[in-house]
Amino acid sequence: MIKLVDLRKEFGRNTVLNGITLTVETGETVVILGRSGVGKSVLLKCIVGLIKPTSGEIWVGGIRVDKADTRTLNGLRKRFGYVFQGAALFDWMTVLENVMLPLVEAGVSRKEAEEKAMKALESVQLKDAYGKYPAELSGGMRKRAGIARAIVAEPDYLFYDEPTSGLDPKTSRMIYDLMKDLDEHLDATTLIISHDIVLAELFGKRVVFLEDGKVAYDGPIEMAHTSEEFSDFLGLNLKR
Ligand SMILES: Nc1ncnc2c1ncn2[C@@H]1O[C@H](COP(=O)(O)OP(=O)(O)OP(=O)(O)O)[C@@H](O)[C@H]1O
Ligand SMILES: [Mg+2]
Repeated sequence: MIKLVDLRKEFGRNTVLNGITLTVETGETVVILGRSGVGKSVLLKCIVGLIKPTSGEIWVGGIRVDKADTRTLNGLRKRFGYVFQGAALFDWMTVLENVMLPLVEAGVSRKEAEEKAMKALESVQLKDAYGKYPAELSGGMRKRAGIARAIVAEPDYLFYDEPTSGLDPKTSRMIYDLMKDLDEHLDATTLIISHDIVLAELFGKRVVFLEDGKVAYDGPIEMAHTSEEFSDFLGLNLKR
């Protein structure tokens, strides 16, 4: 379970998160939407302990992330899969080596890491590219390699930051299908951060819309019209 209580984050005089309260149940998948610059990435970085909030509480799996010491945090992070905005692969390593990394760091033997990494690459349809370097991949392939790396250690928590940004519609479609497929086959508690409305429709059971540092809407996509801010973002007003 992920639980945020009155989370606030200020950068100097810039208040980015202004009291976010949110609970995500174990195994649940939630899409967090909001305009560019609203603080989606900051929120995610707070949850995984990369940024310290100004105030409020962050709980992940019963651990208080914002108060955790480095050791506790490192232990918790082994249970995280993080798909970064921009795939964040290491250029000097092959695709296979990149995907193996979380396992190697966790002390898994090279042989087992290699086997699991190849399986993860197969699930994102990138098996044939295992020996390539990131520079030799297209944007979509890089994203898929990033996803393979995030899932290789079978995380309890899966975080996607803008999984489809910068991709053409056809490649985006491939990522949608892949995410949907993984969501059905993994038990991970999943947060998808995006401004892609298609993702909100695809994982529409629960969508959280952020505006002005707060949760402006939290519920199924079908009820989005009950929030003026969210309707406006979705362009529902235009269709009427
Ligand atoms: N390390 C930082 N120091 C100071 N300000 C920051 C820092 N990180 C983010 N910000 C500010 O926080 C705000 C929210 O940034 P964030 O990256 O979370 O937006 P976002 O919703 O993810 O946008 P996008 O959809 O474009 O990715 C911005 O005003 C940004 O300038
Ligand atoms: Mg962002």
